[in-house]
Amino acid sequence: EHPGLVDSFGRVATDLRVSLTDRCNLRCTYCMPAEGLDWMPTEQVLTDDELVRLMRIAVEMLGVTDIRLTGGEPLLRPGLEQIVERITALDPRPRVSMTTNGIGLAKRAPGLVAAGLDRINVSLDTIDRERFAELTRRDRLPHVLAGLAAARDAGLSPVKINSVLMRGYNEHEAVPLLRFCLEEGYHLRFIEQMPLDAQHGWSRRDMITAEEILAMLGEAFTLSPFPAPRGGAPAERWLVDGGPGDVGVIASVTRPFCSACERTRLTADGAVRSCLFSNDETDLRSLVRAGARDEEVADAWRATMWRKLAGHEINEAGFAQPIRPMSAIGG
Ligand code: GTP
Ligand code: 5AD
Ligand code: SF4
Repeated sequence: EHPGLVDSFGRVATDLRVSLTDRCNLRCTYCMPAEGLDWMPTEQVLTDDELVRLMRIAVEMLGVTDIRLTGGEPLLRPGLEQIVERITALDPRPRVSMTTNGIGLAKRAPGLVAAGLDRINVSLDTIDRERFAELTRRDRLPHVLAGLAAARDAGLSPVKINSVLMRGYNEHEAVPLLRFCLEEGYHLRFIEQMPLDAQHGWSRRDMITAEEILAMLGEAFTLSPFPAPRGGAPAERWLVDGGPGDVGVIASVTRPFCSACERTRLTADGAVRSCLFSNDETDLRSLVRAGARDEEVADAWRATMWRKLAGHEINEAGFAQPIRPMSAIGG
């Protein structure tokens, strides 16, 4: 019997993605409506102690080696720095990274590094201030750019940028975004938009595919295959103009990488999910609040992961979006 988070297809999840809150201070049109969502009531959100206990079980008993903090927007979680400190004090120490929209990072990057944060990914879909305001419904581009620079200057390396291109909005920014990232020393990845928005407005027609992205980049740059194995990473990477700069494409829809998936997820309200796209959740919060021992929690987690499906079914007839939107699952 495998002690870790193995599924019936033999994949082993060593990468834990933890959503710290479902709240966000942006309103990206492809994520949530202008008025926001019905946020989780505070009493349903895991406390710091509950959260850290679950992460300790994951690291000590279930073989998790990497923890990514996500949201909503993780910088909105009160006491984030203390949480990072407590995670990096676990034994064996997991690598700890965060995916954020970058707002507030300008002030907090040094403190997060001091707390032990290893890496950061920042979402940025446009470097045009007006378009940013339109896409996120908030005029905050300067804050994000300052946050990025602060993360780099605080020594977080690499600093990655995630960009979702959308037809009719920012599709022509592939080249300018890459130029910007090469100049600033950020690692850019373009992401195919997935059907995970709260409004259920995704359409395949509006999705900019990996193929289209590569064609646009190919007009301005020479791309060559990145000389390192991809492993379980979602991004396929290319060297730009012979390097050292590179660019990645996360083609979740047109080139799914589910067969190499190493992920398990914990939502802010304490549900374990084996996949972004599965509604098969296990409520660990209730278990923990009912006084379960570590071994019982670990067993429930293992059982959920064992049932993990082969992959998402976005490309299959009859696909239905998961009940939770991305912001309540964790990116
Ligand atoms: P790195 O360790 O830096 O490579 O992180 P990452 O790319 O896994 O994490 P990040 O949070 O930056 O996620 C980037 C994008 O990957 C997300 O916007 C999603 O589009 C996609 N992604 C993340 N998790 C999953 C997943 O479980 N399945 C699929 N299909 N896509 C995912
Ligand atoms: N499809 C793909 N990526 C998405 N993100 C948010 N919603 C979607 C979606 N529907 C991205 C954000 C962020 C990351 C966590 O997920 O841009 O970079
Ligand atoms: Fe917030 Fe991320 Fe959703 Fe944008 S995509 S509204 S930054 S949770």
